[in-house]
Amino acid sequence: MRTRRTVREFSPEPVPLELIERAIAVAGTAPSGANQQPWRFVVVGDPAVKREIRLAAEAEERENYERRFPPEWLAALAPFGTDWHKEFLEVAPYLIVVFRIDYGLSAEGGKQKHYYVNESVGIATGFLLAALHVAGLATLTHTPNPMGFLAKICGRPANERAFLLIPVGYPRAGTTLPDISKKKKEDICLVLESPGAQ
Ligand SMILES: Cc1cc2nc3c(=O)[nH]c(=O)nc-3n(C[C@H](O)[C@H](O)[C@H](O)COP(=O)(O)O)c2cc1C
Repeated sequence: MRTRRTVREFSPEPVPLELIERAIAVAGTAPSGANQQPWRFVVVGDPAVKREIRLAAEAEERENYERRFPPEWLAALAPFGTDWHKEFLEVAPYLIVVFRIDYGLSAEGGKQKHYYVNESVGIATGFLLAALHVAGLATLTHTPNPMGFLAKICGRPANERAFLLIPVGYPRAGTTLPDISKKKKEDICLVLESPGAQ
């Protein structure tokens, strides 16, 4: 997993759909609150739909970068060199739109409460990113907020809300990665020994 990195420039080289579907099957094995599995993964490969998503995402991100993000946020993003242009949303062969299912619906239309939706969908997405990486694919975890446009474009019902937008593909040849590091194990792992342990 140490070799997984977020990629922001993709090759248009096609990706077998089966790889994506198998990674989504892995995501579906994740634990979830009361096993409610409050997730949906919509795979978008249609160029016209990818374009629609790009244009809507760029409209939101333009607002974010030019008006909505406070200076501290822009400063935190500066090392990544990102801006409102999101060409990768058209270039990557597939986009996976992850939806959280806020509540279930019975056949009669009654609402069933879902528990720990964010935690559950976050864990499932972690499984997804890991599985895609093991399959040799690169991903970008993208959040062009507010993401209400994704439910509209993907035709999802009112109980489904976009959680993340994940372009998937192979990295563009020669693309570079931000020079970042991860915290050391000693800095993130705190072991509390049992009183009797030596
Ligand atoms: C919840 C979440 C939202 C993110 N949103 C964006 C985004 O909108 N645009 C982007 O370029 N990167 C986004 N990232 C990617 C992070 O910048 C990236 O994971 C981080 O810099 C660490 O780099 P690595 O994934 O290569 O380890 C997001 C990551 C997470 C987990």
